[in-house]
Amino acid sequence: MNVMGQAERFAASLTEEGRYRLLIEAITDYAIYMLDPAGIVTSWNPGAQRLKGYEESEILGEHFSRFHTEEDRRAGLPERSLRTAARDGTFESEGWRLRKDGSRFWAHVIIDPIKSPAGDLVGFAKVTRDLTERKQAEALLRQSESQFRLLVESVTDQAIYLLDPGGQVDSWNPGAERITGYRPEEVVGRHFSLFHTPEDRDRGEPARTLETAIREGRFETEAWRVRKGGERFWAHVSIDPIRNEDGAIVGFAKVTHDLTEATGTRVALDRARDAIFQAQKMEAIGQLTGGVAHDFNNILTAVLGGLEIVMRRLPENPNITPLLQGAIQAAQRGVSLTQRMMAFGRRQELRPETVALQALLRAIMDIIIQTLGPRITLDTDFPEAPLTAHVDVDQLELAVINLLMNARDSMPSGGSVRISLSARAVDSDEMAGFRLGRYVCLSVADTGEGMDEATFARAMEPFFSTRGVGKGTGLGLSMVHGFAEQSGGKLLLNSRKGEGTTAEIWLPVEA
Ligand SMILES: Nc1ncnc2c1ncn2[C@@H]1O[C@H](COP(=O)(O)OP(=O)(O)OP(=O)(O)O)[C@@H](O)[C@H]1O
Ligand SMILES: [Mg+2]
Repeated sequence: MNVMGQAERFAASLTEEGRYRLLIEAITDYAIYMLDPAGIVTSWNPGAQRLKGYEESEILGEHFSRFHTEEDRRAGLPERSLRTAARDGTFESEGWRLRKDGSRFWAHVIIDPIKSPAGDLVGFAKVTRDLTERKQAEALLRQSESQFRLLVESVTDQAIYLLDPGGQVDSWNPGAERITGYRPEEVVGRHFSLFHTPEDRDRGEPARTLETAIREGRFETEAWRVRKGGERFWAHVSIDPIRNEDGAIVGFAKVTHDLTEATGTRVALDRARDAIFQAQKMEAIGQLTGGVAHDFNNILTAVLGGLEIVMRRLPENPNITPLLQGAIQAAQRGVSLTQRMMAFGRRQELRPETVALQALLRAIMDIIIQTLGPRITLDTDFPEAPLTAHVDVDQLELAVINLLMNARDSMPSGGSVRISLSARAVDSDEMAGFRLGRYVCLSVADTGEGMDEATFARAMEPFFSTRGVGKGTGLGLSMVHGFAEQSGGKLLLNSRKGEGTTAEIWLPVEA
């Protein structure tokens, strides 16, 4: 056994050689042992025992090649390492070694030749350290690094790249290539101010960006950036400084998100989808409502016709006449209802004529004022030159009255209404659903309660009403909408809760 007793230790400590032995005996983290010139183990310390698992008595006299793996032995590594040590004065390497139980450990090995004063090789000193843990940590790190790289490499909707401390691009991911248009070989090594606008560069923005990141631990902004071709995009940018263990800046991590793309296309898509859905819904309800209304209108016309004939032919009778009058009135309400439904379904028989709208509105001013009532002030804004439209006059009057009734209902304690006329032109396809051409716009604006988003979204739907059961049929705006469409125009609404409502009927100037 290599472990010395108390007395033996004391004796050893008296000589220099003995003290060395004590030192080596105390070392348990390193295997320190000697080989003879042929590679036979001639001494063994506790560190060696701990590391390799052999007792001193088991291993003395054995060849050190047994610590090597099968492959290394076959490759002649044990002999070569001794030869190298003898020739060069030292041999150093890292590699897998075997424990007694056959398990492997990652070893750092140094072999030094021991020579006699005359220069003859008398053996080798061998120091082995177990680096398995470090090796595993390295492997883990490498694995997580490669996973991280894989992650960054697979991101295509964000530019993720590294800058060196001076702001030069160090790495480049596919997202960065896609967003900026630069290939890695075009951009790695160049300064990141490349992506800034000339104005930003003149103002020293790139340098300030890095300073802020260092000072505050992070830099974040939304700003214009420039693609390869010079095109600008609105970017969300964040920069994080990267520090080493000592806290020194070794670079920056930069993530850039193209907001132009995100907001632009996504919003446009959502809008387009909503618009299509809305249009399809209105079309479907229109078909249904129009069809039903058409049949009911025929039935009611027959009922009304019959009642009127009976009324004319029957002599006055206090028991029957009031009943007949009531029936006729109800049937008439029914007819006007089905007509509004038909208007919504674009099933009205329109008789369009070319009329000046100022004259048309002035002719019904009495009805307008009556409709609004005494608590609402009216003002008008009509241009001098007559604005003509090709339109069914009776239906347009009805539509205007419907809008005015809505305005009135939204202002129970009074307010004001402004009716205005203006000439408009649609010359690009920016106005969704409009045919190009000249239009007249008749607008009715109130200072009423306005609509919340949910109401606004459904206001034109038939039978949608917030007025309460029995009060509104929810066909007012439906009629105006259907009529405007059937006339080749549009009903446009603009409203916000608490901020009043503007309804515009756009009518084509030419048929
Ligand atoms: N000028 C307005 N101000 C505020 N809300 C309005 C206005 N015009 C319409 N609305 C809202 O839109 C809904 C639908 O209007 P619409 O004219 O189609 O039906 P209604 O007025 O409720 O009933 P009806 O017109 O058949 O009497 C209304 O119930 C109301 O909530
Ligand atoms: Mg209404």
